[in-house]
Amino acid sequence: MGATGKQPEWLDDAVFYEIYPQSFLDSNSDGIGDINGITQKLDYIKELGCNAIWINPCFTSPFGDAGYDVEDYYSVAPRYGTNEDLARLFAEAHQREMHVLLDLVPGHTAVTHKWFKESMKAQKNEYTDRYIWTDSVWEEPQGMGCIRGISDRDGACVVNFFSHQPALNYGYYEQKCPWQQSMDDEGPKATLEAMKDVMRFWLKMGCDGFRVDMAGSLVKNDPEGKGNILLWQNIRTFLNEEFPKAAMVSEWGEPDKSLQGGFHMDFLLHFGPSHYNDLFRCEEPFFSSRGKGDISAFVEKYRENYEKSERKGLICIPSGNHDMDRLARTIKGDELKIAFAFLLSMPGAPFIYYGDEIGMRYVEGLTSVEGGYNRTGSRSPMQWNDGLNAGFSTAAAEKLYIAQDSVADRPTVFAQMEDKNSLYHEIQKLIKIRRAHPALLNKGEIEFVYAKKDTYPFAYVRSSGDERILVVLNPSDKKVSFPYEGVLGENIYQFGRDVTGDGTTVNVDARTAAFITLN
Ligand code: GLC
Ligand code: CA
Repeated sequence: MGATGKQPEWLDDAVFYEIYPQSFLDSNSDGIGDINGITQKLDYIKELGCNAIWINPCFTSPFGDAGYDVEDYYSVAPRYGTNEDLARLFAEAHQREMHVLLDLVPGHTAVTHKWFKESMKAQKNEYTDRYIWTDSVWEEPQGMGCIRGISDRDGACVVNFFSHQPALNYGYYEQKCPWQQSMDDEGPKATLEAMKDVMRFWLKMGCDGFRVDMAGSLVKNDPEGKGNILLWQNIRTFLNEEFPKAAMVSEWGEPDKSLQGGFHMDFLLHFGPSHYNDLFRCEEPFFSSRGKGDISAFVEKYRENYEKSERKGLICIPSGNHDMDRLARTIKGDELKIAFAFLLSMPGAPFIYYGDEIGMRYVEGLTSVEGGYNRTGSRSPMQWNDGLNAGFSTAAAEKLYIAQDSVADRPTVFAQMEDKNSLYHEIQKLIKIRRAHPALLNKGEIEFVYAKKDTYPFAYVRSSGDERILVVLNPSDKKVSFPYEGVLGENIYQFGRDVTGDGTTVNVDARTAAFITLN
């Protein structure tokens, strides 16, 4: 039986803000965002309504994949500051009743990691089996990339993502070649213990948990995820014993599996079976005013996951992240506001990607920075105000980590705070309403009322105890209706125009969203 973690209470009303540290705020004018920059902006994040943050990897790295290639799990990358700066960030966050998740990258390291350097040696040593190696340099692992020809050791090393990210060895669930070890072999067991040590180190320092990179792919040859579920249950047992309050969110994309593994939360992602892309990122997204999208496949899959997960944990729908196109690349204006009315009224903990709260655009035409490729346009520095480099940094513009959006009317925090009709204010309002109504909070129930193929609007009821709230979303530019028997109560949130009910039908104006209490 699996070790499920008791949900830390703070997750009940957590609204997360994802920070890409190199692009948030540069506090020492070197053109790169840093930890002290984040600390300076905690009040901003809190004022928006977010009470938790997830910081992308901020550890020492050659930055071939923007820090997802860790060279030393135990030190903050000098360009971001020091371990002391990070400890101070934890403390400052806690003073504001906020929580901080770090990004754990347990699947692979950089080639410059000392474990890998040892593992490449011909002589057997403590790290020989820390990574997955075939028995001969001429034997390539089938179906996976590898590094070969750069070590004295005779073998090819499996890689996970880019060809410079050697895969740590957690074993194979089904072993098909002699070099594939089982989860119970010494090497894989030692890797797992080493990763627990890493977690211990940061949790002791005050970190509140982790977002886990590629969490469902540590154990190889594991088509049904059984090995990976076992592995994470093992980690959950360790956390339950030593850090019962540590919160864990997985980049897995299959909540039925990850929640069994003891994760408290899993993301719906741009890959995997969730139909998340149908919402905002496809040719005809549901949240486009063209009204040609389809919500039904998303809802069907969501419902399936929701039932399978038996309320063991939270399914989180992010506004975006550092790997996807910016939300504002495909939808705009009112569409963004209605999209956030959705994101902030669904169960699970919402995750807002930095800058999405002001509708930051995808910066077109950038050359890849640090392994970003097409993702680079979603990683440009935050736009705070009308000052130099939009207030991100006082370095010369050409020294910035990534070039900023150069469009004259680029959105900024300052301008949106001044404008009471801005996306920023809409999001702030939505979070306040969410917090004031348990039915809308992370663990409130959901029942879908209207989610038909190729049809608008989309409607669902959120509930908790006696409170029931009908959410109606019509991003399309047509007036629509749906059958609904029941008396509508008070509108606790209204965007756009009217939503009216006559006891059998609900009519919804174009580009309109509303949350309505039910008796
Ligand atoms: C995850 C990260 C991504 C990274 C990859 C390899 O998908 O989100 O940014 O490149 O894993 O670590
Ligand atoms: Ca800096």
